[in-house]
Amino acid sequence: MTPIFPAPAWLVGCGNMAGAMVAGWRAAKVDLSGVTAIRPSGTQVEGVTTVTALPGGDAPRFVMLGVKPQKLDEVAPGLAPFVGGETILVSLLAGVSAATLRACFPEARAVIRAMSNLPVAELQGVTALYSEDDDAEARQLVEALIAVLGLAPWCADEAGFSAIGAVAGSGPAYVARFAAALARGGERLGLDPELARAIATQTLVGTAAMADQESMADIARRVASPNGTTEQGLAVLDAEGGLQSLVDAMLAAAIARGTQLAAEAAARH
Ligand SMILES: NC(=O)c1ccc[n+]([C@@H]2O[C@H](COP(=O)([O-])OP(=O)(O)OC[C@H]3O[C@@H](n4cnc5c(N)ncnc54)[C@H](OP(=O)(O)O)[C@@H]3O)[C@@H](O)[C@H]2O)c1
Repeated sequence: MTPIFPAPAWLVGCGNMAGAMVAGWRAAKVDLSGVTAIRPSGTQVEGVTTVTALPGGDAPRFVMLGVKPQKLDEVAPGLAPFVGGETILVSLLAGVSAATLRACFPEARAVIRAMSNLPVAELQGVTALYSEDDDAEARQLVEALIAVLGLAPWCADEAGFSAIGAVAGSGPAYVARFAAALARGGERLGLDPELARAIATQTLVGTAAMADQESMADIARRVASPNGTTEQGLAVLDAEGGLQSLVDAMLAAAIARGTQLAAEAAARH
């Protein structure tokens, strides 16, 4: 069943991330007639009313914060008076804790953190959800809206939420880097750059389609015949200090930055 957007709904900041969610909701035919995007540039967000400042009229029943984390201090004082006991506040901000958000919006009906990734636009996203408020109806409503965009797991604590953020929120950038490296490697072997890019992309898409049906380990096993060429390549990735160490270090760096952002945001409130 297509979920209903509570109206009025305000998307405060609607750039890359919130814009991708709107694109997903449009693709899923969610009724966006009660939704207003607020962004200083006024650049139209397709499918929703777009304005440059907070609108007057009825208090919003749903507010989604889609500004950069560093902008919270600028946005919260003007927004807080509109966020009352009827308003569900969803925050997309990386590294800003539920406690900090609650301090900024003390009257909100419920504060829910959502950590999405850009494939929500294709209805193939991952969005971690977390709330410290015991409001089953608000949780259900937000989950229904997010679940149309892809996977929507609830997290028991903020550490789990940050872990999903590091793996999935940032994930498309990491996967894209790997595919680009594969393409560049092909180029260095003499392939035409455009062809190398197309081959890497198609390999990514094809592997993703296979991964729906079988595990990553099985895919690798089926590609690599014993003593064959792939096995030699995998041995390089699997060696001590190879791909897994690199990925662990990559995630640790992202988590450390999240912790730093959270501390900075908490110190300001
Ligand atoms: N991008 C991702 O893949 C990703 C993944 C996970 C989480 N996130 C989170 O999503 C949030 C947004 O990131 P993003 O990549 O979408 O950034 P973005 O593209 O820069 O979008 C930020 C939006 O905030 C608006 N804005 C700036 N100042 C404002 C103000 N004073 N009042 C209202 N709106 C204001 C901007 O308006 P204009 O468009 O008019 O400039 C823009 O629409 C961040 O908190 C980030 O942690 C992003």
